[in-house]
Amino acid sequence: MCGIIGYAGKNQAKQILIGGLHSLEYRGYDSAGVSLLTLGGFETVKCSGRVLNLEEMCKGIDVYSTCGIGHTRWATHGVPSSENAHPHVSENCVLVHNGIIENYIELKKDLEKIGYIFKSETDTECIVHLLDSEYKKTQDHIKAIRSTANKLKGSFALAIMFKDALNKIWGIKRDNPLIAAKNEDGTYVASDIPALLPYSKEIFRPIDDELFCIDGKNIILFEGKEPTIEKIEWNVETAQKEGFEHFMLKEIYEQPKAVRRTVSGILNSKGLPDFSLIGMDDSILKNIDSVSVIACGSATHAGLVGKAIIESLAKIPVFVTTASEYRYSPPITVGNTLTVAVSQSGETADTLAALRLSKKSGGVTLGIINSVGSAIARESDYVLYTNAGPEIAVATTKGYTTQLTAFVMLALSLALARQTVNESEIAKICDSFISDVPEAIENVISRRDEIKRIAESIYDKNDLYFIGRGIDNFSCVECSLKLKEISYIHSEAYAAGELKHGTLALIEKDTPVVALACAKGYYDKMLGNIREVISRGAKVVLVCGKDFEFKEENSYISFELPQINEMFTPLVSVTFSQLLAYEIALLRGCDVDHPRNLAKSVTVE
Ligand code: M6R
Repeated sequence: MCGIIGYAGKNQAKQILIGGLHSLEYRGYDSAGVSLLTLGGFETVKCSGRVLNLEEMCKGIDVYSTCGIGHTRWATHGVPSSENAHPHVSENCVLVHNGIIENYIELKKDLEKIGYIFKSETDTECIVHLLDSEYKKTQDHIKAIRSTANKLKGSFALAIMFKDALNKIWGIKRDNPLIAAKNEDGTYVASDIPALLPYSKEIFRPIDDELFCIDGKNIILFEGKEPTIEKIEWNVETAQKEGFEHFMLKEIYEQPKAVRRTVSGILNSKGLPDFSLIGMDDSILKNIDSVSVIACGSATHAGLVGKAIIESLAKIPVFVTTASEYRYSPPITVGNTLTVAVSQSGETADTLAALRLSKKSGGVTLGIINSVGSAIARESDYVLYTNAGPEIAVATTKGYTTQLTAFVMLALSLALARQTVNESEIAKICDSFISDVPEAIENVISRRDEIKRIAESIYDKNDLYFIGRGIDNFSCVECSLKLKEISYIHSEAYAAGELKHGTLALIEKDTPVVALACAKGYYDKMLGNIREVISRGAKVVLVCGKDFEFKEENSYISFELPQINEMFTPLVSVTFSQLLAYEIALLRGCDVDHPRNLAKSVTVE
């Protein structure tokens, strides 16, 4: 989970590398570095901290180089420091790496025996020395890279330069992303699309273990193979902030459109969700007896809401398992199981590993994915793309709401195929989603000032609880994660009825409690729970549906949501919480787009 960039071409490489690293910082930002290939060898600059620090350091470097590689790191082996930052250099070669080498301790021991001295605590350094030793044996770049890759266990994406190969960069990957592109000014390699968008919208995605080389003019494959080029629809503007102060805010505002795009990607001419559009025909849906959702973080939370909606509409059991736990406790499902892997990035290592494991036990797999062509998308039998567009902020917003939308569409299709709901009712539900949900999200966004005032009244507290019942209870988990992630306030999500079994002991004077009461069926019971916390001194923020009758004046702040089908309210209440978390984080001076210790794309298990 690091960002890789490489350039070989006609222009000076330094600025291109720094620019690319800025757009890849969402992948990791605890240290960064670049290496420039010159006639005299490698000029390497590394530092801990953000790309901005590296940019400052690079100002002092005055070398002519049209070929270089760069890296922005999210530490896995060894602390963030300039020694551990990439690129890692050996006598003949230099490289940057994203991934984890599982057998690095054995490799390191062998390399030390033949005289290599390690300067860092990273697993990556063993790759560069191994490559160097292979190169010394063969004097052949391709053979050296291939035999090195064969000896590595684990995951990697590598961009490599050799001292004696001017203007050439080699790339190879296994289970981690790497792409390449070219234009009239040169050739590029990167971890992800935003870094290449300023240069080209035509990209090449190597498959695992496929070695390629960029030489300033071409992307070269070997054994007579030609690179297959994929056209990207995104543009630079969509990958930039467009005047918003933060990516997170921009992405919150993009939700109404993003949600509409998710729906329109799966609707047929009758206006019904139709999975045959992604190749999954009715007979598959009809024969499904249970659904198993695997995902991480917010995507798991989307799965929890999805479970509530699928079970209520399609009447099939849904099991939601955190992907990192899947190998220890896969659910005991019944009959034909549809495994749904949910991931915004499509590169989350735990989700990918769980998907692979689930495939061993058979059944159909469906990916709910945003990033087109990503690893999880490629390995799923069917893919429902959420079409959210690039999501850059570490805290997911539109990624999550579009996943919820995809679950609504899946639930409706399963209900239709299994005839648990008739076609006209499905059409009605679908219509109401399209007409009400984006508008309700817009309504919440337009009341940002109101949310800001709520934030001002609670931003300095140390703990905050979210409580709810039913589907609101599942929403609370995501609302709470959003707050912790970007404001660093300790927060917990609790089923409102559970408070009195222990957690109520933590409520004291002015403890903020956000109560979600969007589902009408739970109004009475929620009222009781709200009174319970108020009488212990809590400062309640009530986020409720229409007509929630609560008379105790002045003892709470309320935020009424527009009236929509209860099933869809999680998309709207979460928008409130995203903005609340955002405003609180700003008031606390936090770096909203780059929360500490986190990275956007978690490509390590
Ligand atoms: O790319 P994915 O959807 O697979 O990512 C899963 C989680 O890492 C992600 O949702 C994470 O929890 C977010 N930072 C939460 O905002």
